Amino acid sequence: MSEPLGRWSAVDTIGRSVREAPALRRGFGLTVLLAMAGAGARIVLPILLQQAIDRGLRHGRVRVDVVVHLALIGVAVVAVATLAQRTAVARLGIRSEQALFGLRVRLFEHIHRLSIADHNDERTGALVARVTGDVETLSQFFAWGGLALLLDGTLMVVVAAVMLAYDWLLAVVAFLVAAPLAILLRRVQAHLLTANDAARARNAEMLSQISELVGGSETLRAYGASRHYADATAATARRRADSFIRVGTIGAFLFPLGEVFSALTVSAVITLGVWLGPDRGLTAGAMVGFVFLTYRFLEPIAEFTEVIDQTQTAVAGMRRVLGVLGTPIGPPESADPQRLPSGPLDVYLANVDFAYPRRHDAEAERGASDDEPVLHQVTAHIPAGQQVALVGETGSGKTTLGRLVARLADPTRGQVLLGGVPLTEVANHDLRRRLVVVPQEPFLFDGTIADNLAFADPSATPQRLAEAVEALDLGDWLAGLPAGLDTEVGPRGSQLSAGERQLVALVRASIVDPAVLVLDEATSSVDALTEVRLGRALERLSRGRTSIAIAHRLSTAARADRVLVLDHGRLVEDGAHRDLVDAGGAYARMYDAWVSATDAARTTS
Ligand SMILES: Nc1ncnc2c1ncn2[C@@H]1O[C@H](COP(=O)(O)OP(=O)(O)OP(=O)(O)O)[C@@H](O)[C@H]1O
Ligand SMILES: [Mg+2]
Repeated sequence: MSEPLGRWSAVDTIGRSVREAPALRRGFGLTVLLAMAGAGARIVLPILLQQAIDRGLRHGRVRVDVVVHLALIGVAVVAVATLAQRTAVARLGIRSEQALFGLRVRLFEHIHRLSIADHNDERTGALVARVTGDVETLSQFFAWGGLALLLDGTLMVVVAAVMLAYDWLLAVVAFLVAAPLAILLRRVQAHLLTANDAARARNAEMLSQISELVGGSETLRAYGASRHYADATAATARRRADSFIRVGTIGAFLFPLGEVFSALTVSAVITLGVWLGPDRGLTAGAMVGFVFLTYRFLEPIAEFTEVIDQTQTAVAGMRRVLGVLGTPIGPPESADPQRLPSGPLDVYLANVDFAYPRRHDAEAERGASDDEPVLHQVTAHIPAGQQVALVGETGSGKTTLGRLVARLADPTRGQVLLGGVPLTEVANHDLRRRLVVVPQEPFLFDGTIADNLAFADPSATPQRLAEAVEALDLGDWLAGLPAGLDTEVGPRGSQLSAGERQLVALVRASIVDPAVLVLDEATSSVDALTEVRLGRALERLSRGRTSIAIAHRLSTAARADRVLVLDHGRLVEDGAHRDLVDAGGAYARMYDAWVSATDAARTTS
């Protein structure tokens, strides 16, 4: 799987994000206007103050009417501005949550498909973890970073302009004295960010070690390794503590830094103002107003520099998210796809060879076979509506063959045709609708069974879902669950057994109503009752469809119209179950072994 990262500029990335998440764009203009109106009040107040001093305090007399008038204006401005700013914050918050929600749904759907196509669960897990982190960063950014960037940016520019208008010399002095603050702040914040990252990593490391220590306690005890492992965990905890202390120490510099520079800048402004003021026609009010403006100018600097970092992180996260969304699922689609004929479809494997592409990661280093063909000249025609079982030793290439039929990969040589159309010519969405794969380990989302079924068709009503369960003769199973369709399956479906996860996946497949079904039976042991239910559901689901069941339980093979036997990537036998048993070849031996193993299991249990 390619990951086209770091290819887009920041502006490009933001542009793309807005296109991917249209919720962000809705009403953005008004939000900006409201935010600016909110920022405006912070400039109006110093100006009002200046007016109050210069016009309200003439010749040692207070002109109450002027001061009251200005105060009323001040109250009105603050009220309106507060309202405007609140509204802007709320609007931005709602929009960004909507955008993030849409993004999350699309991301996980995409990753789910990738996980099927990528043939590598471990890497998909890492991808999910990383992207979850990225979306979290984005959500934090949207929560305040985006708004702060907008408000602080406008505020600083407008305040600077007003300061220059009051007295350019004082303004320039204020800017010059304040400049090192921005630079220092960026420095310290950069250190803080690295320290924070390190602290988070240490924390994750410690948590995972603790969970291993607890989860693996039996194994550790059995090997007398508990002491050693506990020591290692304690060391990690110490490293974690150190890294958090470092974060605290650096953080402690940030706050006083701003204070010191505010004091310096304001002192410089006051000194210069008092010294030069009278000659330059600087009134007392203008002087006071200017001091307030200087504070206003300094206030957002710390936040602004911090937001810049956050923006960079958010852009990097967004870039990765877009990279994942842009990763094509399976081989590229034909530029001029053909439509599949309607009705039942036959499957034709024409002289198919397949080798997994060479990998440069740990798996390849561990010596896993790669580059070496795992399928050799497989040829088989499966007429429309036939039920075929694919059997073979572990590693013989059954799952791989299933992947080729679903075009999660293309053969290295030869081709696969569906309804007479080469798979390379079929449009992706057409293929996904007409052919469904139930993988060995189907992925379930943390949610209810209904949620996981509705994944196939979001418009399906609970009634329709219940009917689908009933249609596969699984009503008794559903009735036995604690909350029926509303039973929570847990993260990755962990509350259900492997067999039950496949039951859910079978019902999910039936909702799509495909012409071709590829089922990869769970290898892990399935209890007897679930096995019966799986068999029943598969039988119902296969009816009237072309089906390829990768059978680990030969009872499935015994029920099929036809059995294909793979051995080290070659198709060595092909025929009806009875005929193959009678022929006394590879299949007959497998079947005998399976029958005696199951009998042995029955008698011992
Ligand atoms: N993602 C992959 N990358 C590289 N090699 C792979 C990959 N998946 C499988 N293989 C290799 O391809 C060969 C066939 O594997 P496959 O998973 O198709 O076998 P299988 O018949 O489904 O086995 P099982 O009965 O254990 O499910 C094996 O040698 C396996 O090591
Ligand atoms: Mg397999």
